[in-house]
Amino acid sequence: MLLFAPCPRGLEALLADEITAMGAAAVRISPGGVAFDGDAAMVCQVNLRSRLASRVLRQVGAGRCRDEDELGRVARGVPWEQFMTSRQTLRVDTTAVRSPLRSLNFANLRVKDAVVDRLRQTRGDRPSIDTRRPDVRVFAFLQEQQATLYLDTSGESLFKRGWRREREDKGLAPLKENLAAGLLMLAGWTPERPLLDPYCGSGTLLIEAAQMALGIAPGLSRAFGFERLRDHDPAQWAQIRGEAIRQAQQAGPTLAARLSITGIDIDPAAIEQARRNIERAGVGGAGIRLAVGDAARVSPAQPGPGVIVTNPPYGERIAAHQDGQPAPEERNDASDETHRQAMAAFGRGLKERFGGWQVNVLSSDRELPRQLGIRESRKTLLYNGALECRLFRFDVFDRATREAHDREHQARHDRMREAGAARSDPAPAAAGKPSAAAPADAAQAPLRPPRGAPSPD
Ligand SMILES: C[S@@+](CC[C@H](N)C(=O)[O-])C[C@H]1O[C@@H](n2cnc3c(N)ncnc32)[C@H](O)[C@@H]1O
Repeated sequence: MLLFAPCPRGLEALLADEITAMGAAAVRISPGGVAFDGDAAMVCQVNLRSRLASRVLRQVGAGRCRDEDELGRVARGVPWEQFMTSRQTLRVDTTAVRSPLRSLNFANLRVKDAVVDRLRQTRGDRPSIDTRRPDVRVFAFLQEQQATLYLDTSGESLFKRGWRREREDKGLAPLKENLAAGLLMLAGWTPERPLLDPYCGSGTLLIEAAQMALGIAPGLSRAFGFERLRDHDPAQWAQIRGEAIRQAQQAGPTLAARLSITGIDIDPAAIEQARRNIERAGVGGAGIRLAVGDAARVSPAQPGPGVIVTNPPYGERIAAHQDGQPAPEERNDASDETHRQAMAAFGRGLKERFGGWQVNVLSSDRELPRQLGIRESRKTLLYNGALECRLFRFDVFDRATREAHDREHQARHDRMREAGAARSDPAPAAAGKPSAAAPADAAQAPLRPPRGAPSPD
């Protein structure tokens, strides 16, 4: 089967590695996802185990398409009766890139009519449409001269792991679970290293980390679209799922004892939410520590060096009140200045107390390194939904390294002055005097960015 797994943009290469490790053949990266070949068992495996994919789509038809009639022809050529019954409900969605077709709605209708006609002819009855909870979902992907039709084998998007209660989460701006898993992978976090999320919100990063460490397949507590397709093999699925349950049970208790995962949030309601989510996600035994607190004042729970992976808020008030509690009535009207001050305080705390830690911050704000007063050692372009973001990585110097760096910087400065070079050839910014915007930068910044670091700008 030809399969395609879309994912958050920026995570394609990691997803290709993940799918390759599952044994898929002919894995090809394209913008926004990964194409690969696999059988029905592979469809089950990727849906159940991928931490990064948003869906798994199974190609069922493709052909030349320059107008609606040609789209109808491609869609009528698909043996829909092999995949669904006429008693099941259907939904069609279309996306297009440079397609000459004028209306996506019209394209949806053409595909839907073709499915309905074909089922009526072969089964004598027609399926009905359900856009909210369809049994079978069809995706049409239109390009300039070509239409490709896919069956969705996932159902709900795969970032929905099954443990989050949608209603309770309103207003928290949680990360999508597959993006959170991608951040942990990009950060290179491994379970032996302490992990801290000082803006943990509902606990998404903590839960993804614990599930990764404990080998818990992310899809164990949810259903999938492929279970409703006619050619689904329930015995094979039960075996694949059973194997994943056994693996999680075997690995669990020993690994859990060695984990050090901590979440901090200034909002007590968020911490309560995280606590409930951790239980529902089956990682209550992973010893995740949670506390209400201000990210700018937090200290490592374990002697480092460890890893911080986090996404602080942007555009809402994040400074703590004197009693350490957030001020809810002020939370959505924060000025940029308040945000900058909060980030500067966070940066000072990192430099004072997190020497030797590797800090990874997802932000849509390009000015983040300047606000923190730390130069990034690497940045990776990512998309949080439609929002362009960067995962900034900061390698916070420990005291000894910083002092050695200061001495080296001073010696270089003295040499340049002696050689009279200071006037004619000013020192590069990172090695020169701290700028007003980044007072602590000079002591922290590496003299040159590392080679090969992704730098999409
Ligand atoms: C964008 S949300 C993080 C969402 C989280 N990654 C998740 O998936 O649920 C930012 C969080 O930072 C918290 N926060 C704001 N200011 C803070 C501060 N000074 N210290 C700690 N947490 C803070 C907010 O309460 C909010 O829960």
